[in-house]
Amino acid sequence: MDSSEFRKRGKEMVDYIADYMETINLRRVTPDVEPGYLRDILPKKAPKKGEEFDEIMHDVDKAIMPGITHWQHSHFHAYFPAGNSYPSILGDMLSDAIGCVGFSWAASPACTELETVVLDWLGKMIGLPKVFMHEEEIGGGVIQGSASECVLVTLLAAREVAIKQLKNSFPFIDEGVLLTKLVAYSSKLAHSCVEKAGMLGFVKMRQLEVDDNYSLRGYTLERAIEEDRRLGLIPFYVCATLGTTACCSFDNIAEIGEVCSKENVWLHVDAAYAGNALICPEFQYLLKGVEMVTSININPNKWMLLNFDCSVMWYHWGIPLSRRFRSLKLWFVIRSYGVEGLQSYIRQHIRLAKLFETYVKNDARFEVMGKVTMGLGPNTLTQKLLHMINESGKLHMVPALINEYYVIRFAICTQNAEEADIEYAWRVISAEASELWSARASIESNIETEKLAMENIDQETADDDDVFPDIDNNIIFDQQRNNLHRARMRRNLFLRMVSDPKCYNPKVLKALCSETRRNKSDSLDEK
Ligand SMILES: Cc1ncc(COP(=O)(O)O)c(C=O)c1O
Repeated sequence: MDSSEFRKRGKEMVDYIADYMETINLRRVTPDVEPGYLRDILPKKAPKKGEEFDEIMHDVDKAIMPGITHWQHSHFHAYFPAGNSYPSILGDMLSDAIGCVGFSWAASPACTELETVVLDWLGKMIGLPKVFMHEEEIGGGVIQGSASECVLVTLLAAREVAIKQLKNSFPFIDEGVLLTKLVAYSSKLAHSCVEKAGMLGFVKMRQLEVDDNYSLRGYTLERAIEEDRRLGLIPFYVCATLGTTACCSFDNIAEIGEVCSKENVWLHVDAAYAGNALICPEFQYLLKGVEMVTSININPNKWMLLNFDCSVMWYHWGIPLSRRFRSLKLWFVIRSYGVEGLQSYIRQHIRLAKLFETYVKNDARFEVMGKVTMGLGPNTLTQKLLHMINESGKLHMVPALINEYYVIRFAICTQNAEEADIEYAWRVISAEASELWSARASIESNIETEKLAMENIDQETADDDDVFPDIDNNIIFDQQRNNLHRARMRRNLFLRMVSDPKCYNPKVLKALCSETRRNKSDSLDEK
């Protein structure tokens, strides 16, 4: 492709993108495809000769678009907002075109310097103290690819500091031996990336209990540290969360910070989603105690209109040598919307979350789990409801497990969310719930009649799960029952559910189930 064709195709692509965004709501929010659908329609081998761009775009429409989950759709309420905006897309286009690899100042001075400038802007926007700023020449942040990387990097940095200090006190003890003594902490509602970081960092990781507001408190941490010190372990790292994945609860940074300072323990704050709301001064109380925090991360690519990837970490360390020019899109977005524009976007989402909360509270069939502070809102029946809603293609939401309660998460995601979207969502949820209720009522009354006729009917048939023989035949519920069972042993299941399509997408489950059956019958045949 030469530059004159690029001009033509580039303009067409911008039109294609604008058309897609303008008409996105005409599409189903989730795709109606079976796993493996793409492999069946694409060639088995790469083309030998280059193809026409028109042909490629034709296949985008024919093959790719039917398999897209539309995260920017107004009826997408799953996971978290996937930041997106035209200035961000344009910033990334320019970054791709410049194509520099900013691993050092000399490798591209503007790339390095812009990152330090916009991270100071952002740090000030969210109310970080001066020690976190580049301009003070002691702090400073870097853009990483994901919150998971930020957590891993800070855990590794904390490990390095701890081992160095221990080596000073015990110069003749091997680092490997010292490593076996280290212990890190988070709440049991921390994202699974914290547990993963512990595994990758080869350190013990304890998940601590939360209070009634799903918040990790200082006294819980203090007690755990005391216990571990008595066992001869060395506490070195705490990851507190502002905005937990399951229910957007907030750990108590001030209390945890005091314990960490007293115990000489690194305190990292994972504020991947909710940290963006700190640009609104009314939420900065959540950062009380930040002066005792060692490092913090937020993901503007979640809730600040930034396209993936852009995870900002205030601690100067990173794994890759090569770095993309990601600060360009951050600069474009902050300048295009201004702090006030970004604040009103966040406040609109929070206002709509509150509106959704009133709908839920006014309907006796539902319960709000946790406090609705920001934009995120038992058991078999809830699973059935979520299954029905997702299968309808009218809305998309995902579940979470909070203290073994299966809950439906409702996240406000689309950039220009309006009251009408919330009203629509509630109409869909409410109508599906009514259908579920009447199905349950009629099946229950049939069971009652049968019970009268047959004295010795098995009591089991009357339980909650078996009043839905027609729906329950679907494997999804068996699968989810297993998941719930597993969750009793594995505290982080709810996080997996959020990211694992098997748990809510019936098509994926059906495909997996037939695969398992095929494997079983193959092995029987072999016998
Ligand atoms: C609190 C929290 N931390 C970490 C993550 C992981 O984010 P990433 O995908 O950027 O690694 C999430 C994702 O939802 C999250 O909610």
